[in-house]
Amino acid sequence: MPHLTVVQRDGTRKEFDAPNGHSVMEAIREQGIDELLAICGGCCSCATCHVYVDDAFFDKLPGIKGDEDDLLDSSDHRQRTSRLSCQIPIGPELDGLIVTIAPED
Ligand code: FES
Repeated sequence: MPHLTVVQRDGTRKEFDAPNGHSVMEAIREQGIDELLAICGGCCSCATCHVYVDDAFFDKLPGIKGDEDDLLDSSDHRQRTSRLSCQIPIGPELDGLIVTIAPED
């Protein structure tokens, strides 16, 4: 299983192995990290699963689709490596991925 590191808003880092096929959002929630609200449950309509992706992995992710791009635009905290974690499927290519939970909008 790919190894993930999540940096929480207070700087706490949590490392764990995440199952292939889950989304990064699901993997974070399964670890009990509830500051990532994920209100819409992963159907790309809330933007409360916003994360910053480590530079080394950003180009390995599937491209941003229109809905995700629009939702990220609605955030005051969008940065170059912003993604919605529910739109990132976990696979072997993401072993070592580091994501930082974005501030709440
Ligand atoms: S969980 Fe709502 S957009 Fe990702």
